[in-house]
Amino acid sequence: MDKETIEKLISEAACAKGFSYSPYSNFKVGAALLAGNGKIYSGCNIENAAYSPTNCAERTAFFKAVSEGVRGFEAMAIVGGDGEKLCPPCGVCLQVMAEFCDPQTFLVILASEAGDFKVYLLKDLLPMAFKL
Ligand code: THU
Repeated sequence: MDKETIEKLISEAACAKGFSYSPYSNFKVGAALLAGNGKIYSGCNIENAAYSPTNCAERTAFFKAVSEGVRGFEAMAIVGGDGEKLCPPCGVCLQVMAEFCDPQTFLVILASEAGDFKVYLLKDLLPMAFKL
């Protein structure tokens, strides 16, 4: 994937982070999902007073796309927290990625607020996804 596309996804994820609703953890996360059709679906984490209804930024983006009939994805950028730390997706979000993406080719781009990023293949983050 070219650097321009990676940077575009990171900037969309950083923008979505601005919409994070996270009054309980104060941990803001944004994600941007690139679909095979070229469209980008963004998402933020959305918390709840009852805690368990909380939705991660990654799943917000996936559910927006899938609920609009879109399948087949190429990459997702994630920006979470502040400073230099990267924010890897939680196990639940990895399992959702595994449902809709090819683990051999889907790229997970982790970017810090400081501007650094690292690119992983889904297969390396979730080597043994549950499948029926
Ligand atoms: N969170 C995400 O949005 N994505 C992840 O992959 C990890 C965690 C959110 C959930 C919750 O709102 C906050 O970060 C703290 O766990």
